[in-house]
Amino acid sequence: MKQRISTMSTKATARVSLAVTTLAIAMAACSPNPGPTPSSTAPGSSPSASSASSASSTGAAGIEIGIGLAQTSNVALLGQEEVAGARIAEKYFNDNGGVNGTPIKLVFQDTGGDEQGAINAFQTLITKNKVVGIVGPTLSQQAFSADPIADRAKVPVVGPSNTAKGIPQIGDFVARVSAPVSVVAPNSVKAALKINPQIKKVAVFYAQNDAFNKSETEIFQQTVKDQKLDIVTVQKFQTTDTDFQSQATAALNLKPDLVIISGLAADGGNLVRQLRELGYKGLIIGGNGLNTSNVFPVCKALCDGVLIAQAYSPEQPGAINAAFRDAYRSQFKKEPPQFSAQTFAAVQVLVDALKTLDKQSKVSQLSLSDLRVALNKQLLAGKYDTPLGEISFTPEGEVVQKEFYVAQIKMDANGNSGKFTYLK
Ligand code: ALA
Repeated sequence: MKQRISTMSTKATARVSLAVTTLAIAMAACSPNPGPTPSSTAPGSSPSASSASSASSTGAAGIEIGIGLAQTSNVALLGQEEVAGARIAEKYFNDNGGVNGTPIKLVFQDTGGDEQGAINAFQTLITKNKVVGIVGPTLSQQAFSADPIADRAKVPVVGPSNTAKGIPQIGDFVARVSAPVSVVAPNSVKAALKINPQIKKVAVFYAQNDAFNKSETEIFQQTVKDQKLDIVTVQKFQTTDTDFQSQATAALNLKPDLVIISGLAADGGNLVRQLRELGYKGLIIGGNGLNTSNVFPVCKALCDGVLIAQAYSPEQPGAINAAFRDAYRSQFKKEPPQFSAQTFAAVQVLVDALKTLDKQSKVSQLSLSDLRVALNKQLLAGKYDTPLGEISFTPEGEVVQKEFYVAQIKMDANGNSGKFTYLK
């Protein structure tokens, strides 16, 4: 508690008022139909989505926002969905006037799936691309390495999907729109008990080489204890593992009636599949790292029934969610996933904060360093009506969000397609 208070006061101290200095950031007027840019080469990007970007060689840039996400590696199973959300946000906000008439331009740097990749991407975004702020990285494991670099450079970071404990506390310039494991994960345990009140014995699995999964399993295990259930075993694995025979067999010998998995998409999907192949019939809860339809090709029909807590619902009734959902559905022919919605919201926070700031004093008149500091201050102060519902931030940069859900995977009989069915 003491540490938290002192962190908050440090953060508050950093929010000094800013002197408006002369122009240093290039934000030249943008052509209405600029061509694609080499740095905006995210997988899954549509030509229409990238049309909002402009070739920097022409000097005609918008306000550049960095996107440092996992576009490659096994973490891209999550990162690709985030890129899609960012692309939709770029087009949506530019169609709606950008920042009071100045377009935004997303600059993508692939972090890959590890810490060094995230560090490199952040450094490039900060020093070479000179972005005003960064959305990323995908994993908390990467955030703990890359965010301090942005923090030291006084560049605001909005985490779109980092849910481990301790992310906003990395520094004054780090916030997140992704509600932490402590808020989200318990919902799925409660949903499992509603479906099967007879649950007594719980087997817990987690990826021990990943910060978010270590954090999430702590919350799951505490929730299980709070619900007076018995943890019969805790099995560890690596996010790079594909064979879970020994851990699954050891756990199933103890006859659990609930299995809880904290892993990422590929490993988590394989573990679900192998538990079912070994004959496990009880409920399975997957954590946030399995919250993607990209697990469907991994566990196919055996993904059916997995419960996953959600920080987003496609049914969220706000107007901006309707616009986001329509855009996503028309491009991908399915409902938008949480990772896409959260990344849209992360871009939105930066855009909305820039708009507010620009009304107070033209952002084009600020030096890049002053703009970054002012943007950080403004984004923490704002309230945002996003596809996640209304969100705001604590002074530390923790998201304040009201609505959470639980969904269950429903696979078609052939196992080739499926969807997340939201529980009432
Ligand atoms: N929620 C996952 C993390 O924080 C993706 O790493």
